[in-house]
Amino acid sequence: MKKVINYFKTAALAAVLLASSAAYATTGVPVQGSANLKGKALMDKSDCSACHQLEVKVVGPAFKDIAKKYSADKTAVNKLSDKIIKGGAGSWGDIPMAPHPQVSKADASEMVKYILSLAPAGGAKPAAKKS
Ligand code: HEC
Repeated sequence: MKKVINYFKTAALAAVLLASSAAYATTGVPVQGSANLKGKALMDKSDCSACHQLEVKVVGPAFKDIAKKYSADKTAVNKLSDKIIKGGAGSWGDIPMAPHPQVSKADASEMVKYILSLAPAGGAKPAAKKS
């Protein structure tokens, strides 16, 4: 009986290892290198996914579209981290981005770096049209 239990323990452990090595974390956003994971973790803890998804516009623009729009913009990290903290509308339409006064400038910058890292390889290159 002990052997059987051990077998299941091993199988369960293997399943956990397999699951955690998959390239997708909780939001379904692919993990791209460790440098930007801090920003992703901060976003997972915040409410961003209530309005944003990776590929499609929900309330706010898709993170990939944000990454594309600002991929050549050297001021993006500063500008967008302020926007995360203060909120506001006008860049994508009339619906305002919710303010996040509890997020520090440093943490907001990490979030922006993560979002910008989602741009398709090749930076500013326009992506294939989908619709
Ligand atoms: C209540 C809905 C909502 C939540 C929650 C939200 N956003 Fe947004 N976000 C928006 C909308 C709407 C826009 C488009 C604003 C505009 O047109 O200027 C936006 C725009 C953005 C932009 C681009 C800003 C620009 O000027 O181009 C970034 C970056 C962003 N959001 C990051 C985040 C992050 C990070 C979080 C979590 C900390 C978050 N958002 C949470 C709705 C939201």
